[in-house]
Parts: sequence; C-alpha cells; structure tokens
Amino acid sequence: METNPYLIDFYNNYDEDSRLALRHGSVEFLTTMRYIEKYIKPGDRVLEIGAGTGRYSHALARQGYDVDAVELVEHNIAVFQKNTLPDENITVTQGNALDLSAFPDEQYDITLLLGPLYHLYTKEDKLQALGEAIRVTKQGGVIFAAYVISDGCLLDEGFHRGNISVRAYVETGLLHPETFAAKSEPKDLFELVRKEDVDDLMSALPVTRLHYVASDGCALLLREAIDAMDDDTFRLYMNYHFATCEREDLLGVTSHAIDIFKKQK
Ligand SMILES: C[S@@+](CC[C@H](N)C(=O)[O-])C[C@H]1O[C@@H](n2cnc3c(N)ncnc32)[C@H](O)[C@@H]1O
Repeated sequence: METNPYLIDFYNNYDEDSRLALRHGSVEFLTTMRYIEKYIKPGDRVLEIGAGTGRYSHALARQGYDVDAVELVEHNIAVFQKNTLPDENITVTQGNALDLSAFPDEQYDITLLLGPLYHLYTKEDKLQALGEAIRVTKQGGVIFAAYVISDGCLLDEGFHRGNISVRAYVETGLLHPETFAAKSEPKDLFELVRKEDVDDLMSALPVTRLHYVASDGCALLLREAIDAMDDDTFRLYMNYHFATCEREDLLGVTSHAIDIFKKQK
C-alpha cells in the first residue's frame, strides 16, 4: 500500500497538540465528545483510527474506557505515547485505515475515524476505510466519521483569510468554476467534500445514520470573536452551537462535519 509522502511530511511538521490552545479550536472537540458521550456506555471498547496525538483516545481512556488506537505517522505516535498516563488502558499501533487486518471483526462498541477521510481522494479508498471501520465494530456499535467540508474552508481560508487563492484554485481546476465543488489529489493534501458526497458514499453501506453534525459550525469563520469571548459568552455560544449544529439550513458552512451512524444488526 502506497503512503502519501505529502501527508507524512505535513503531520511530521504540524503541531497537532496546539490545535486546542485557542478557544475556537475547542469547539470541534467539545462537540465530538458530547456526541461520543451520548452513545458510550460503561465497559465499552473504543478504536480510534487515525488517532493523531490521541486527543480523543486519551480523553476516553482517562474516563476509564479501554482504547486501541491506530495511527499512520510515527511523529504522532511518539507524541501519543508521551501523552499516555500510567493508569490509561490504551494501546497505539502504527497502521493504515485502509487495511485494519491486524484487528478482528466486531470487536469495538465505538469506532472513531476522525481524520483519515481528510486524506483519501477516491470514492473507492473512502469506502475501503469506512468498510474497515464498520467491519471491526460490533453489530449495533456506533461509528463516527469526520470530513473536511469544502464550503466552510473556501469561505474561511479563501474569501475571509486569504490563505488560499480562490481564483487560482478555480484556474487550476481544484474548484469547479460554476458549482465551486472541490477536487483534490494527494499533492493537495486535503480532500474537501460536501454533504451530498457523504450521502452518496453512505448510501451503499449497511448502517443507519444517527446524526450528521456541523462539528465546528462557524467557529473558524468567527475565530477572532470566539477567542475574545469571556467564559459566560463562550458558554452561551456553545449552547447556541449545540442547539443548531444539526440544522439542515446551517450544515454547509461548517469546516468539519461528523457523520455518526450505527452498524446494522
Ligand atoms: C486531522 S488529524 C486528526 C487526529 C485525531 N483523530 C483528532 O481528531 O485529534 C488526522 C490524523 O489521521 C492520520 N491519518 C491520515 N491518513 C491515515 C490513514 N490512511 N491511516 C491512518 N491514519 C491516517 C494522520 O496522520 C493524522 O494523525
């Protein structure tokens, strides 16, 4: 299996652990944890695929759950291991979301796939990773799959921040000139999708959707305002976000989404 060298280079040089340092960076984490906590039960086994430095894995292990983690990039595994506390019941293995053959069928109650789909560029590869996540999950278990959403990134990184040139992306074919749908390859690093792409992927799989969540909503677009909020205002903002993060009319503007679904019995 070929590993994308752009991906390894990116994560070897990216400070994954600092993403939470600012308040706006915590919105996605708090939202994802809220939904995990809605479904996880005492004694559950968790697998995190593409665990990075282990934000979710460690948080869940520290709540007493048994956690296994799989991660592609050695640098992230080293940070993951450094962050492990002695009483955590946790393992981390180097591996690829496309091939979890080291893990038997139907072992996990909760399976997290929060990152690998950001870096899989064909429908076939995305279905392979989703299929592996479903295979290792028990019947009735719950799977969380995260995506980067193109319109949220285009608005924030493009029109708002100017970190990417929307004009250049259209000229080079990364964005469709009329629909602004995104198209990427491994050298572009991130694969950006819309909800309609996720719906299309999921239509063939033996699962039932529980939630489709705008996990950071407008948090990246509003980052300066959110970082300047006092504690009370941030609590109010999070109440607003939790109340609206599944609303159809607001979903497209998010930078990240999580599809949460149950493996059919
Ligand atoms: C954006 S990070 C998210 C990390 C973690 N899940 C979190 O939410 O904090 C994506 C992670 O997925 C890993 N990754 C990407 N493609 C992968 C693959 N095919 N198999 C396993 N891990 C992968 C990356 O190395 C990176 O650590």
